[in-house]
Amino acid sequence: MDIEKILQQMTLEEKADFCSGSDFWHTQPVERLGVPAVMMSDGPSGLRKQDKQGDHLGINKSIPAVCFPSSAAVASSFDTALAEKLGKTLGNECRAENLALLLGPGLNIKRSPLCGRNFEYFSEDPYLSGEMGAALVNGIQSNGVGSCIKHFAANDQETDRMASDSVMDERTLHEVYLPAFETVVKKAKPLGVMAAYNKLNGTHCSENKELLTDILRNRWGYEGMVVTDWGAVKDRAKGIAAGQDLEMPGGSDRGTNSILSAIHAGTLSEEDLNAAVRNLLRFVDSTSRTENTSAVFDRDADYRMAVSVAENSAVLLKNEKGVLPLAKGCKAVFLGEFAEHPRYQGGGSSHVNSAKVSCALEHAPGVAYAQGYRTDEDTVDPALEQAAVAAAADADAEVAVIFAGLPERYESEGYDRTTLAMPENQNHLIAAVAAVQPNTVVVLHNGSAIEMPWVNDVPAVLELYLAGDGAGEAAVDLLYGTVNPSGKLAETFPRKLSDTPAYLSFPGERETSVYSEGVFVGYRYYDTKEADVLFPFGHGLSYTTFAYSDLQLSRSTVHEGEDVQVTVTVKNTGAVVGKETVQLYVTPPKGERHRPVRELKGFAKVSLQPGESKEVQFTLDKRSLAYYEPELHDFYAESGTYQICVGASSRDLRLTGLLEWQAAQPLPVHFTAASTLKQIMTHPVGAAIIGPILQRMAAAAGDATGKKDDDDSSLSMMMGIQIVTLVDFHVLTEKQLNDILNQINQA
Ligand code: BGC
Repeated sequence: MDIEKILQQMTLEEKADFCSGSDFWHTQPVERLGVPAVMMSDGPSGLRKQDKQGDHLGINKSIPAVCFPSSAAVASSFDTALAEKLGKTLGNECRAENLALLLGPGLNIKRSPLCGRNFEYFSEDPYLSGEMGAALVNGIQSNGVGSCIKHFAANDQETDRMASDSVMDERTLHEVYLPAFETVVKKAKPLGVMAAYNKLNGTHCSENKELLTDILRNRWGYEGMVVTDWGAVKDRAKGIAAGQDLEMPGGSDRGTNSILSAIHAGTLSEEDLNAAVRNLLRFVDSTSRTENTSAVFDRDADYRMAVSVAENSAVLLKNEKGVLPLAKGCKAVFLGEFAEHPRYQGGGSSHVNSAKVSCALEHAPGVAYAQGYRTDEDTVDPALEQAAVAAAADADAEVAVIFAGLPERYESEGYDRTTLAMPENQNHLIAAVAAVQPNTVVVLHNGSAIEMPWVNDVPAVLELYLAGDGAGEAAVDLLYGTVNPSGKLAETFPRKLSDTPAYLSFPGERETSVYSEGVFVGYRYYDTKEADVLFPFGHGLSYTTFAYSDLQLSRSTVHEGEDVQVTVTVKNTGAVVGKETVQLYVTPPKGERHRPVRELKGFAKVSLQPGESKEVQFTLDKRSLAYYEPELHDFYAESGTYQICVGASSRDLRLTGLLEWQAAQPLPVHFTAASTLKQIMTHPVGAAIIGPILQRMAAAAGDATGKKDDDDSSLSMMMGIQIVTLVDFHVLTEKQLNDILNQINQA
């Protein structure tokens, strides 16, 4: 397409109209100029292509497709190569189905485990979310179709999701809620970004110029198109001016009329409209070239891929007495409705019409089964429970495997959870079975963290998350050791809801959610607070063991602008092949700002034969050490000693190295008459001038109160005085004060 030529030939009305879709899933064609309509579909864990009546809530049927594990599970694989492979498969499906854009992945941060859509998001950690997201998007787009990252930004709750205002400071936004988007934009160039429903600091994301233009395009260099979340438009013309290109769904004239009247009234420039049309034409051009290709949606092959992703994502949370893996042919009983009908996907717009779903029972022939509980109610059904307990207590039964978790009604797009508890009937069943069967294993199907009141009573827990169509097959392969579990938690499992960092402010009140915990989200909070947790971030066991050795930094003193390579050797010290995710955390020096005690800045998954060792390498740069400094409106890494810790979880650090970082510039501070003596003393010139004055004042005060020479309390008290007060105390003249300020501000 000759985009500029088409743009020139389009009438104002055509341009305004082009910026809204034609229906639920298609862009508007401009037939007379040869611009086709292209189709999009949810996303992200499989296609929800609606050939017939469209909706954005997953209500009407879509084509039979393959449901892959949800992003919460995929993130637990800590495997970017796997995410890319999954993306390739999804992208190929899009091509085969003539879809131009897959609406996903979701990159929002798990601020609270209660968010109803956490299953669709990767992690509580922005670094992990960004790396996994970039790999997935690169995979999808390698097919010539687009991926649309969502929901930009700070859409971290479902309560009042269309109206709620996410209120946070600049540092929190840039350090926690934006970096995953930034990484994917920079590393994978997604063709689409979806602006979220909610407001950010008072302005709807779909009208937020700071977000859509200043940050996304100007700061990060984004060149794709921006689409509204479905129905997120409030003031269409304002949205165009802010950097919003496409309104979805289309089909009404409201958006077009709003744009036209704003242009006629002079409140929207035609240049702004042209910019949106240009972005959209580029998008249609690049994706429509892939239509009518020979790609085939091979549902059987893609189902196998779904099984493999599930197997690489499951997290073995606990395994005592070697109860797992189960010996083939052992007398096991499977309990719980999920053994027969697994919960394998989340509710809402990501809901896939699965062509085939596997259940654990069909993959474990000959295993005894009892339902134990019903998923459509929470109360104990005594007959069902007793039958399950009896089966577990049977003299022949060597092990009981309970399939449990959250029923679909517990978590979904559109609403948040109110509790971390599992249904009472399931908790009760697990406790009752554990009381009669010491070898009780719990297999979990849930989209987000849960409480486990029975955790000390069972020797093994395997977390599958919402594992997609292959959930049952993967569960059996993992339980029997055909596959060795290798997932790690991409979120902390707290002991109870009131331990969570956003407990006091989530989901806010009167449609306002104040992010008062700031940057202390997930393990950044628990680890800094040294709080007890059920399972920490990054935790996950294996049927083998790993040893870490030989941590080395390519240089110990690093100047700004230089990179540093970190290498470590990991060895499989057990008897079976297995995969380990080596995690690298950075602990900053104590400095100007409060910072989390550690942050993930690298991870690598390696497969090792028994006895085999491999060296793993990470590259760290300024950003790996930096925090967002609001006074600079940018990331900044202070000079000092950083600890580089490598280990198997955020609470299982095996090796530590030290890195001396030298910033190019100290943090610029502007001193004023209102600066405290404590602040002035941080400056070498300030300290040289004020230090002796302070000593004299402290000595005089000490004499007056009869304090001992080594009592620094007078000095500490004086540090809080503003320097201007020294003029009032006749210690400095006004001229001296100004001279000092001039000197230290220039020095
Ligand atoms: C969701 C989006 C989804 C869209 C289209 C919205 O309700 O928030 O994630 O892509 O609907 O179904």
